[in-house]
Amino acid sequence: MDRNLNALEVSKISKEFNGKKAIKRIDFKIKYGEIFGFLGPSGAGKTTTIKMLTGQLKPSTGEAYILGKNVKNINTNIYGKIGLVTDNSGLYDRLTVMENMQVYCKLHNVKKEEADKLLERVGLKDHKKKRADKLSKGMRQRLILARALIHKPELLFLDEPTSGLDPSTSIAIHELLLELKNSGTAIFLTTHNMEEAYKLCDNLALINEGVIVEQGRPKDIILKHNQKQAFQVLLDNDESLVFEEDSKELETLFELIRNRRVASIHSSEPTLEDVFIKLTGRVLQ
Ligand SMILES: Nc1ncnc2c1ncn2[C@@H]1O[C@H](COP(=O)(O)OP(=O)(O)OP(=O)(O)O)[C@@H](O)[C@H]1O
Ligand SMILES: [Mg+2]
Repeated sequence: MDRNLNALEVSKISKEFNGKKAIKRIDFKIKYGEIFGFLGPSGAGKTTTIKMLTGQLKPSTGEAYILGKNVKNINTNIYGKIGLVTDNSGLYDRLTVMENMQVYCKLHNVKKEEADKLLERVGLKDHKKKRADKLSKGMRQRLILARALIHKPELLFLDEPTSGLDPSTSIAIHELLLELKNSGTAIFLTTHNMEEAYKLCDNLALINEGVIVEQGRPKDIILKHNQKQAFQVLLDNDESLVFEEDSKELETLFELIRNRRVASIHSSEPTLEDVFIKLTGRVLQ
């Protein structure tokens, strides 16, 4: 891992399907030890982008480099250094949890003890002997993630890793991802969950209809779009009101304060979802 280089660099890549543009000249970079989020609604182009960056689809135009190699000339050696989790990452259904891990241990020449450690880490230690087709959705997802980590990838692609999972499984996965990040792994994560993106990502891009409409640190994106200060006010009768920073609205608020009607005031800032709606007119979910 050469930490002076970016783990991933994308320069103006586009993808057309039958003359229709699914991705339109997008740019971004991911450093080692960084989680980069790709946040957009269904059909935005998230999976298409992952496929182009992992050699499964050829970009129509533009350049992309993973671990310093042009994705146009990817050879199989690179799969020893990257990990990939998608919704069609299959398991061997007739094999047990441990056997599924062992297939990958052999493939990557990794000791069985690594599989034990990872299964423990994702909470599947007590299910090692269970057949894959007997696992719940959350367990399958955790097994697919454990399997993708067996060779300690330098760059990890995760296509909606927590979609449809219960909150405690999602939290366990988040903790694991933060540990990986701290050990230097670069993580590209797609999601349409803005809370997940806000919590995990160092940088993120908001994508809509194949176009990146905003990118940066989550806090900076919110600050940039927080032009009008707003106040959330709780009244003595538990009624909640929002006042924007303009003189007429503030006069009403002062009147409430003078009449001792106000229980609390908080300044409220937009969420990533609000920013997305403002920029695209669409909701994320
Ligand atoms: N193989 C393909 N052939 C033709 N069109 C495709 C193909 N793959 C994707 N598309 C189109 O490209 C666009 C982006 O699809 P993509 O699967 O990348 O979206 P997504 O952001 O991953 O959505 P979701 O959140 O539902 O997974 C969609 O309009 C889709 O119909
Ligand atoms: Mg997708």
